[in-house]
Amino acid sequence: MKITELKRLQNFWYPVALTTDLTPKLVKLFGNDYVLWRSENGLVLTQPYCPHRGARLDYAKEQDGSLVCPYHGWQFGEDGSCKFIPQLEAGLPIPPKAYLTTYPVIERYGVYWTCIGTPETSGPPPWHEADDLGWRVHVDFFELWETSGFRIIDNNLDQSHPAFIHQNTFGDPSRPLVPRYSVEPTSAGFITRIPQYVGGVGPQMGIDDERLAFDRFQEAELLGPLHTRIRLTYNGAAPDYAFYGSVTPIDDNKSMYLRCSALAGDETMQPYDLFHAFSRRVVDEDREILEVTNPDFPISITEEVHLRCDRNTIEYRRVLGKLAKDQELTDISDQTSFELQPDPVTQAT
Ligand code: FES
Ligand SMILES: [Fe+2]
Repeated sequence: MKITELKRLQNFWYPVALTTDLTPKLVKLFGNDYVLWRSENGLVLTQPYCPHRGARLDYAKEQDGSLVCPYHGWQFGEDGSCKFIPQLEAGLPIPPKAYLTTYPVIERYGVYWTCIGTPETSGPPPWHEADDLGWRVHVDFFELWETSGFRIIDNNLDQSHPAFIHQNTFGDPSRPLVPRYSVEPTSAGFITRIPQYVGGVGPQMGIDDERLAFDRFQEAELLGPLHTRIRLTYNGAAPDYAFYGSVTPIDDNKSMYLRCSALAGDETMQPYDLFHAFSRRVVDEDREILEVTNPDFPISITEEVHLRCDRNTIEYRRVLGKLAKDQELTDISDQTSFELQPDPVTQAT
């Protein structure tokens, strides 16, 4: 399935800019253009073209809380209504069709989030470590990846690629097997906890030595259809951390990928630069492969081959299949009754 075909995805919240970004700014979501601008009360997302003669509004000026069109100077307020038309003769009303369609924008975690559909939640998914544990949050990057958003999220949940893809960071090709794990449904998606033994990750814990190896638990959670949380816990051996991934679909094969991290340790114990330099190498290993994957992502779980270690990514397809079913896409069949065989032949070797 191409990402723009699953219209219900548009009912969720996606990152659209960082609080440090300049405005007005042209942005694209689900194949359509929008303009983001800064009013006196925060950011506003609006249609890209002026309703008068079609000027593109990222060329407009922000002035006294209004957006001033670059072509004839009409002024629009944060609610999209036209406040002033310089050429309008005195006493005449502003034409009723002189307004901009606007969309809600929420600021959270140093990021602006928007929903261009009918919101199914009141905002972006909460981040437990930031909200409840008070860990410090960093925006690692918000950048364009030339791949389907489904592929990025699928990769965040995938348990069997590290031994292969991440050989130059923390993967160990001599340990390709994934311990058995179970999947626990949540209201937004699901959560899994998986024991791991990994090398290389010292820099993420303030230890500038990649030769050490550690036991840890990975908690992988689907927080929304294009939102993940990965928590790594070292049982007191070192400061823990979590990664939050959120993908904004630009179109079927382009995504703005937001990755943030929350660190349990302070800057002395767990320096962010050391943490991020290593984490960036890891994510670039994923990116290299993801940018050459097929943008058509089968969400029907009978279309691909699955192993027991793929439980997370099977469950991800189930969640997407449910959204598609509710949207009455007919190509998804038997999505809920599919079960892995107890001992798939493919797992035996
Ligand atoms: S095109 Fe915007 S005011 Fe004329
Ligand atoms: Fe990876």
